[in-house]
Amino acid sequence: MVASKKSQVKRKTVSKKKSVKPKPRVAAEQPIMAALRAEHKHIASVMEVFSQQLEAVDGGELVDTHIMYETMDYMVCWPDRFHHPREDLVYGRVAEIDPGAADSVDSLQREHEKMGVSARKLLADIDRWREGEITGDSVVKDGRAYIKKMDTHMNAEEKLVFPQIESVLSLADWRELAVDDQLKPAADPVFGGRVDREFRNLSRKLRRNLRHTVERGAMVEWIGIEALMESMEVMSMAYEAARDATGDHLKTVWDESVDILREAPVAGLFRCATNNSRLTASWVGDVLGISKDTLSDLSRVNQERRDRVRLLERVSH
Ligand SMILES: [Fe+2]
Ligand SMILES: [Fe+2]
Repeated sequence: MVASKKSQVKRKTVSKKKSVKPKPRVAAEQPIMAALRAEHKHIASVMEVFSQQLEAVDGGELVDTHIMYETMDYMVCWPDRFHHPREDLVYGRVAEIDPGAADSVDSLQREHEKMGVSARKLLADIDRWREGEITGDSVVKDGRAYIKKMDTHMNAEEKLVFPQIESVLSLADWRELAVDDQLKPAADPVFGGRVDREFRNLSRKLRRNLRHTVERGAMVEWIGIEALMESMEVMSMAYEAARDATGDHLKTVWDESVDILREAPVAGLFRCATNNSRLTASWVGDVLGISKDTLSDLSRVNQERRDRVRLLERVSH
């Protein structure tokens, strides 16, 4: 009797719980979606730099052509190779599950292809413009069209398609997509843990944009401090590149020496010495290349500082 009373109490509690309307649960953002949204922010900040550069070209001002080149090189090397394929993977799954979404994701996928073609053409045109083969007008026109297209595209994704994806895909789908997402190990060459040397000017420019909240009165001092900070960044990047080159060199010397000695323990000693001299010459070449780049980067930072101070003086007089 006691037991049955207890079970009645339990049943009552359960039924009471069931009658309470559950609060809507906010689903946690899936890592793939978080990555896509973060990548959109990175793309938007690179497009902001590109837009500033195009504005300067249009206004006949001096621009750092390396930055111009690196912005579009980044778009070709990262979003076109990693961001868009990752989206295509997710879009493909959504289209399988929800035929209603198939049209919109299909048009986004076609836009990825078209934007990839435009990005490669723009990159080639910037190169031709740097060489003086074409004028800046077409680069400005096509560059602005590209920025506008990218902006519209990312807006459509974030406002319309991403929420739809998140409402359609189940946890099991996300798990499978995470397994299929082969792009996880790839590190962003600008926003990842380490800046790739090919994008060092763009990276400096992005950081400078972030720092630009300083008042006008302190501008000249700030330009000096900023140039100093950028010089330190150049030096630290050069140090990292030289350290990598040295690490690679030592590893190659070690691996090849072990192979040589394994093949011929006695005669191998002479061959090791010859081989090491050859490898050392190539290492010296690498380090000299890094030093040359570093000197040219430092002189560019200094030149930029002088130009900006001159520009500021012209504006204030
Ligand atoms: Fe996209
Ligand atoms: Fe996107």
